[in-house]
Amino acid sequence: MKVAFTGASGMLGYDIKNIFTDVELVPLTRRDLDITSLDKSVTAIREAKPDYLIHAAAHTDVDGSELDPDKAYLVNGIGARNITIACEEIKCPIIYISSDYVFDGTKEGSYNEWDKPNPINTYGLSKLLGEQFVTMLTNRFYIARTSWLFGRNGKNFVDTIIKLLAGRDEIDVVNDQFGSPTYTYDLAMKLREIIGRGYGIYHITNSSHCSWHEFAVEIANIKGINKKINPATSDKFKRPARRPSFSVLGNTMLKLEGIKELRHWKEALKDYLSQ
Ligand SMILES: NC(=O)c1ccc[n+]([C@@H]2O[C@H](COP(=O)([O-])OP(=O)(O)OC[C@H]3O[C@@H](n4cnc5c(N)ncnc54)[C@H](OP(=O)(O)O)[C@@H]3O)[C@@H](O)[C@H]2O)c1
Repeated sequence: MKVAFTGASGMLGYDIKNIFTDVELVPLTRRDLDITSLDKSVTAIREAKPDYLIHAAAHTDVDGSELDPDKAYLVNGIGARNITIACEEIKCPIIYISSDYVFDGTKEGSYNEWDKPNPINTYGLSKLLGEQFVTMLTNRFYIARTSWLFGRNGKNFVDTIIKLLAGRDEIDVVNDQFGSPTYTYDLAMKLREIIGRGYGIYHITNSSHCSWHEFAVEIANIKGINKKINPATSDKFKRPARRPSFSVLGNTMLKLEGIKELRHWKEALKDYLSQ
């Protein structure tokens, strides 16, 4: 089996490489293929001729997307359109990686795959636009929504907190936004498992949830860092993009399909930090 994937030099791309060792992999970096070009997308995917394509490339700068919305729409929306058209031409199923930020975070409880998206920031809207292109242009799709990613090969909250704590005696972290931290290694493992199963939308996150503050406290605990981490409300941090307050994704489709859910985020975090 041949699996191509975009975003090969990104954080999730790194772990796709680590996990998909039983298939022939075709990594596609931005240098191999700029997804904003339809021609280049069609040519590259026609040449690679994969059996499946994981579309992990994205413009992931949430605040930057607010300042330059067209860039987000172009890369996350049009980019997904181009990759889907290219996949459809060779009848290759696409696995589109999407985000908890397609939801507004006002539901009481976790989001199911069939809940109605309603993004409250440009990044979320651009990822939803990508989802819409995918579902409009092919029947052969998986949409894997995930959240709060951390992993070895990219800028992430875990590394940021460790760096901040190294340089300061105390830090403030928001305690009114909740989500499920997810290790890219675990996500890549589950992507490997769902390929070949029923098409559709899957929520894939590590189990359980927390606030960013609880997440930071756990990072410090595991690292044995004894500094003050103060809970703070979002309004203390003026940021260009609004964030949903409760964007926890229920992994309902995995459950219904009898696929084992992912381990607890604390266990995944311990694993990440031990390496
Ligand atoms: N990070 C999170 O917390 C999070 C949460 C939910 C969902 N997601 C989704 O999960 C997926 C993977 O995220 P990640 O954190 O691994 O992302 P990442 O580390 O930022 O990697 C994204 C990759 O996309 C590539 N890319 C950007 N523009 C491109 C273009 N025009 N053409 C080709 N490649 C392009 C980048 O290439 P360069 O290396 O050349 O810049 C980068 O390697 C994304 O779809 C993201 O939306 C992420």
